[in-house]
Amino acid sequence: MSHEIVEKNIGLMAIGILLVISIAGLVQIVPLFFLKSTTEPVEGLRPYTALQLEGRDIYVREGCYTCHSQMIRPFRAETERYGHFSVAGEFVWDRPFQWGSKRTGPDLARVGGRYSDDWHRVHLINPRLVVPESNMPAYPFLERREINADITPRKLRAMQRLGVPYTDEQIASASDEVRGKTEMDALIAYLQVLGTAIPHRR
Ligand code: HEC
Repeated sequence: MSHEIVEKNIGLMAIGILLVISIAGLVQIVPLFFLKSTTEPVEGLRPYTALQLEGRDIYVREGCYTCHSQMIRPFRAETERYGHFSVAGEFVWDRPFQWGSKRTGPDLARVGGRYSDDWHRVHLINPRLVVPESNMPAYPFLERREINADITPRKLRAMQRLGVPYTDEQIASASDEVRGKTEMDALIAYLQVLGTAIPHRR
């Protein structure tokens, strides 16, 4: 009987629908209030060293992301080629993240440790020296430019404010770590750490 009343009264029906949707919404939303963060860092994740962080800035400045993604999708064809698919906890301290989707060149999410530092140096000076058919631009000038060590601590400090767990000692020694290093050194240091936070095989 009461069912019939609700069915024949559009006002009551609307209130009933709203009630049901609100409960369903709360069930989804409320548990999130009790999580510290929706994405926890993976166990092996370390904040970038000062040199790696400088390298990351050069990666962004030079627009490497316009040709390279840093996200391996969970498909057989991708994991066979690049290694373990990317997981969210690997990127929690990347600001901004470099996932991307444009792949003129290969994905770089797990390029760390794949080549030697020397290979990267030669490749960045002129990709054609190691990959004859490559259409990647050459970046020989990175060898000649030094990192400005005076502003490195401020970069770490900014990341610390955003939640990256840098210690004050790391920030204090940041200038010494990068002083005298070239932009090439920094970029290679960054490339070599990519994707190494979780164990994976290629
Ligand atoms: C115009 C597109 C383009 C841009 C911009 C570009 N690359 Fe590439 N990159 C490629 C292509 C194509 C390849 C594959 C051929 C080769 O190895 O050179 C490649 C290959 C690579 C590889 C080897 C990856 C592997 O798994 O074999 C690395 C490392 C790399 N690029 C780093 C960089 C970095 C760092 C930058 C920015 C300084 C950059 N690339 C900018 C197109 C690009």
